Amino acid sequence: TRTQVAIVGAGPAGLTLSHLLAAQGIDSVVVEIRERHEIEGTIRAGILEQGTVDLLSGSGIDTRVHTEGARHDGIELRFDGRGHRIDFARHVGRSVWLYPQHEVLKDLIATRVRDGADLRFGVSDVVVDGVGGTEPEVAFTDRDGTRTRLRCDVVAGCDGSAGVSRNAFPDGTAQDHFRTYPFGWFGILAEAPPSAPELIYTHSERGFALISSRTPTVQRMYFQCDPREDPADWSDARIWDELQARVAGEDGFSLKEGRIFQRGVIPMRSYVRTPMRHGRLLLAGDAAHTVPPTGAKGLNLAMADVQVLARTLTDFFGSGDEGTLDTYGPTALRRVWRAQHFSYWMTSMLHTDPAGSDFDLNRQRGELDSVTSSAAGSTYLAEAYTGWPLSL
Ligand code: DHB
Repeated sequence: TRTQVAIVGAGPAGLTLSHLLAAQGIDSVVVEIRERHEIEGTIRAGILEQGTVDLLSGSGIDTRVHTEGARHDGIELRFDGRGHRIDFARHVGRSVWLYPQHEVLKDLIATRVRDGADLRFGVSDVVVDGVGGTEPEVAFTDRDGTRTRLRCDVVAGCDGSAGVSRNAFPDGTAQDHFRTYPFGWFGILAEAPPSAPELIYTHSERGFALISSRTPTVQRMYFQCDPREDPADWSDARIWDELQARVAGEDGFSLKEGRIFQRGVIPMRSYVRTPMRHGRLLLAGDAAHTVPPTGAKGLNLAMADVQVLARTLTDFFGSGDEGTLDTYGPTALRRVWRAQHFSYWMTSMLHTDPAGSDFDLNRQRGELDSVTSSAAGSTYLAEAYTGWPLSL
């Protein structure tokens, strides 16, 4: 079997790349270890930047973001027991959309199936090979046990932080930049009505909490916890008490509670692989970088990467010039590092450091006061949160 671009991973990056390439007449095959129903049923990220929505609705993807998604024109930063709204529409004239990642994936898969794409779900033993030469390949085993060697011109590694692509770089050809944080997020999904019209990011002495949503009847909430916390140690009542304590304040705000039907602890890391390419292998999305979740940049960064990558590959197949592949990483990395800074900044402004002091708590309050009371501070947050334009 042969294709122009072998895409490893059918997440937002891989599927979008396959669609953008097809629009340029470039052929691809997408291989994915999970089954379609697993991908479509796993609840993950929830916030789309304006640019991600523009991409979904402006490039021929059959998306329901405008009918099922909810536009949010701001967020609330809560500290000292009071809410402070950052008005995106006023400061930057842009918005974000609450539209869950698995809905984006359903839209993308349906669109690719509509267009006759070659998508291989449920494969195993994926091996990326020969990327230092001009005829790389991706080998994998189908559900029925058949081994396929997919020969190609280029491999796009879109298989996330636990994928195999990143490991196909020979030793000594890349640098990994990372940072860990001394906390995680305890995340829940609950059957309840929304507690607020927009997302709430809360700083408190007990630690950070985030009040988000998925649908009018399903709410997503998180609170900062020890990264080794065992979710089984928490009763529903204890979870609600902790969340309520973190958002409590003089304004009397409280959360609407309901049955908790999913829970888990998410680690927090910052990671970047440089360069993002080795030979004919180019990484995109979480395969190349991870951001801590605060600020919701992960999915959006992946969508920005593949727009740059699709342009690069269009130039490459148009000219046959190997040098065009050099432009991808540096262009993508400029946004990656800005998003790394923003995610790190939001994380460190809002979370309590277990080794921190009373000084640190008050310094954070000063920072939050500066950001929310200054038009310049609020504008930077609004600009970064709603997303920078594609060409920085
Ligand atoms: C969600 C996650 C985030 O990290 C964030 O900043 C906002 C929303 C969410 O899962 O809804």
